[in-house]
Amino acid sequence: MTIVNGKDYPQLHTLRMTSQLRTLMTIIRDKNTKRNDFIFYADRINRLLIEEGLNFLPTTEKIVTTRTGEQYKGSEFLGKICAVPIIRSGLSMENSIREVAKKIRIAHILIQRDEETAKPIFYKSWLPEDIQDRFVLILDPMLATGGSAIATINTLKEHNVPENKVIFINLVSVPEGIDQVLSTFPEIKIITAEVDQGLNEQAFILPGLGDFGDIYFGTD
Ligand code: URA
Repeated sequence: MTIVNGKDYPQLHTLRMTSQLRTLMTIIRDKNTKRNDFIFYADRINRLLIEEGLNFLPTTEKIVTTRTGEQYKGSEFLGKICAVPIIRSGLSMENSIREVAKKIRIAHILIQRDEETAKPIFYKSWLPEDIQDRFVLILDPMLATGGSAIATINTLKEHNVPENKVIFINLVSVPEGIDQVLSTFPEIKIITAEVDQGLNEQAFILPGLGDFGDIYFGTD
């Protein structure tokens, strides 16, 4: 649960702002950071976010015998998962999720933001046939207006994915986007590293970091 602008969001989970995370966030936000460092440190934050996201997946009890011959009462993950990076920026989070969740199924959705209107345009999705039986982790580094996330969740719902099986993971978010997404889909979860001040007239996050995809993929 996180409070943003005095409002309670039980479905919003922000990473604990440790001195380590603050330092990583500072590096990726600094305009003087070189691209290879941006990639390295953004990937590190992504791994922290994905580990946090996995904490919300259900587990069941599993008892194993250790090498001492004793029993250990532990747990194992229950249910299948699918990560859905939103092309293009979300692709930057794909490597991190593969490193953390070895058996994960990856699907994609292509939604682009119209540079003039900042509105999302849906192009195509590639989803597994059993998507409705999976927990779905939507990956998109910047939660700005929330338009792309809403279009993605609508697509998932058209494929019968229950809202409460959707976890949306991003690095930087703003109150407007959080409110927009959670008021449209109150049962999904959002995991974010930091909530920023707001959006400028071009719907860029402030203080933000700029265009994430351009920096990560070297197209700026
Ligand atoms: N997408 C980005 O890459 N940056 C923003 O500030 C907003 C959306």
